[in-house]
Amino acid sequence: MTNNLNKRYDVTKTFEYNKEHGPFEKVYDKNDEIKKILGDYWIETDFFWFKTNLPIWVAAWPLYNEKYMKAASKDGFEVITWKTFRTLHRLAHASSGKYMWHNIVFIPTKQIEEKSIWTKTIWSLEYKWKVENISITNSFGMPSDTIPEWINSIMSLEKYAKENNKQVITSVVWTPKENWTIYDLAQDYAFLARSAEFRWSKIIELNFSCPNVQWWEWSIYKDIENSLIIAKNTRKFLHNSDTKLLIKMWFSNRDYYKEFLENIASYIDGIVAINTIPMQIIDKDNKQALAWWIISWTCWRAILDLWVKAVYDLRNARDELLDIAKHVKIIGCGWVMDAEWFMRHIDAWAEFVMCATAALFNPELPLQIAKYLNKNKIKRKI
Ligand SMILES: Cc1cc2nc3c(=O)[nH]c(=O)nc-3n(C[C@H](O)[C@H](O)[C@H](O)COP(=O)(O)O)c2cc1C
Repeated sequence: MTNNLNKRYDVTKTFEYNKEHGPFEKVYDKNDEIKKILGDYWIETDFFWFKTNLPIWVAAWPLYNEKYMKAASKDGFEVITWKTFRTLHRLAHASSGKYMWHNIVFIPTKQIEEKSIWTKTIWSLEYKWKVENISITNSFGMPSDTIPEWINSIMSLEKYAKENNKQVITSVVWTPKENWTIYDLAQDYAFLARSAEFRWSKIIELNFSCPNVQWWEWSIYKDIENSLIIAKNTRKFLHNSDTKLLIKMWFSNRDYYKEFLENIASYIDGIVAINTIPMQIIDKDNKQALAWWIISWTCWRAILDLWVKAVYDLRNARDELLDIAKHVKIIGCGWVMDAEWFMRHIDAWAEFVMCATAALFNPELPLQIAKYLNKNKIKRKI
């Protein structure tokens, strides 16, 4: 892992600063090197129309401009997700207090258990990464550009993505307004999805577990009836029948996932799981990790057990439903930092693996995985 973890994203600066000035290193293109290293070794998977030999991809992540998307593709990630977009402009949270202006803090590796989600935890907080601090907690508040702005960004990446054989996922989320019914909200999602599709996006992710925002915005996945209205309406509104629709889910159990899929599978093509985990994280002086709101959102090593369980349950739920849901792709997302862990995920449960934090703090991950596959002579078709 790289020693200077602030090269791609400087955690001591705001989201907006990073967006404007980052990445802070010259990113070199590792794609040819990766291909050469892979040679005869690979993990082959089909993602809809796309064949890949290295199923480590980037989940909806902190920065959504073209510079950061290109940097991730140069690192060797073949499928990359934009950060979630809204219909309107919104700045990232600006904290006040001890951890002023920052959106990310490193925390220790301790595992979060299901019973401690939402609870208060005392952890040591750092801006500097240390070996024992390999999780982060973040609070961004789902910033977004306006539709014309982000559509411009999407368009500016089109030529590059096509020439370099990269697939791009566009993640979208609603922005509730006073007195809106579920049908208005469903239309907000549909409008976003259609706008992205109109500008060449062929894979759209509906964020149903949006972190960092008010409770009614992030928990839509918990309501199957409303999730169904949104998925059905979005599907109806899309122009091309082969545009793929994914849903970003949160942690739950097999019975719930089964019921969810039973109702919604015919309108979607895949599920991405999981999103970050809400915790109230404070230091020993009782200072909150990120001061804007009482809760911040935790990921990387600390959520390993939870995401493993979620992805395992999702796969079982899908497989139990046989024909109703067999087309639904399960994309595991959370705690992948090195090649060994990537392999463990592939061996045990995931068809595709995404990472968010590693794409910022260990951008050499695809290269490391290629070396690992070659060294261990791994050749597999999933
Ligand atoms: C800084 C940061 C920003 C994120 N922004 C989004 C987002 O806009 N939309 C979303 O669905 N998930 C977002 N996520 C969640 C990730 O996509 C992912 O679900 C989660 O971080 C678990 O993966 P990881 O352990 O590899 O980070 C974000 C995560 C991080 C760390």
